[in-house]
Amino acid sequence: MSVNRTPHLQSRLPAVGTTIFTVMSALAASHGAVNLGQGFPDFECDPKLLDAVNAAMRAGHNQYPPMTGVPALREAVAAKIESLYGRRYDPGSEITITAGATQAILTAVLAVVHPGDEVIVLEPCYDSYIPNIELAGGKVVRVALTAGTFRPDFDAIGAALTPRTRAIIVNSPHNPSATIWRRDEMDRLAALLAPTDTLLISDEVYEHMVYDGQAHVSASSNPDLAARSFVVSSFGKTFHVTGWKIGTVAAPAALSAEFRKVHQFNVFTVNTPMQHALAAYLGDPAPYRELGVFYQAKRDLFRAGLAKTSLRLLPSEGSYFQCVDYSAVSELPEEAFCRWLTTDVGVAAIPLSAFYEDGRNQRIARLCFAKRDDTLAFALDRLSRL
Ligand SMILES: Cc1ncc(COP(=O)(O)O)c(C=O)c1O
Repeated sequence: MSVNRTPHLQSRLPAVGTTIFTVMSALAASHGAVNLGQGFPDFECDPKLLDAVNAAMRAGHNQYPPMTGVPALREAVAAKIESLYGRRYDPGSEITITAGATQAILTAVLAVVHPGDEVIVLEPCYDSYIPNIELAGGKVVRVALTAGTFRPDFDAIGAALTPRTRAIIVNSPHNPSATIWRRDEMDRLAALLAPTDTLLISDEVYEHMVYDGQAHVSASSNPDLAARSFVVSSFGKTFHVTGWKIGTVAAPAALSAEFRKVHQFNVFTVNTPMQHALAAYLGDPAPYRELGVFYQAKRDLFRAGLAKTSLRLLPSEGSYFQCVDYSAVSELPEEAFCRWLTTDVGVAAIPLSAFYEDGRNQRIARLCFAKRDDTLAFALDRLSRL
């Protein structure tokens, strides 16, 4: 028998294929469409941040850092969380630097979910959550956000909680719906979880993109939730460097200890010079404190242009996404509509159905406005025929 045979594999993730983001980005590239599909900025970060990376490399910060992250960065993150949300995390035992939020969430899931444990996700949800739970052998329990408003449905969440519920994953500001959780909603979640042993994985990567004078309500600001939470954030989103893949996890020491056991034998350490650079850059709070104003101007520019079309605008309270209901424009289902928008109108978007397991059709598409103003103007010009 030939020895050059690749053994048959039984996939750990049989349902996973090419993501819609990759598909739409490729379609956008081949048709010269403006890519408002995938969520990343098309502008550069602050040159001061690049200089800080260069300085860190020249200063010799090029070898393995401590497993949990560069101490100065963990201290800076703890100080930032304390100043914004009022909870003091111990940088030594409660803050861990990760290779982006995606790794942080997977690591948290692997650290706490045993085979057969249930994990609640609120659909529509970011695409990594479900494969993460499946990799851990957990059972995905899907609860839909309220149709139309995308607000949490606490009756449905309460009904989904069982003695086997190990964790719930919540994301605010929310991708894709651009809603944000209000304080009373966080309080209701805390009350629901209080009698249970359910942990919260709080995905707060868009924490600094909140609009119209509202404040981001972090799980860390609610003591009951903070005691059971992994609070995840991402410098990629905050500082316009999505390709750097550096994130943070804040969690009570007992949870952080389990998190670090998995992190140690997976990622082990995260890029050293970038951690030093971020530590220095965080010394000035202005860049993250002013991010909401920066993105609100883009959101307003984008919405003003879209308002002249037949697309119906859904609220965009936070994140850098804008959802539109296109029922008045087309009867196509979402994926077909987004393909048509890309190939025939020249603007790529993401169907909301991609964020649901059942691929339901609500005639809603997600657009990303983390783009230069001239890119947005160009896209709006094309969309003006709708
Ligand atoms: C809700 C949400 N969580 C996590 C991530 C991933 O963040 P990172 O690039 O830091 O892994 C994204 C990126 O699109 C996101 O939208």
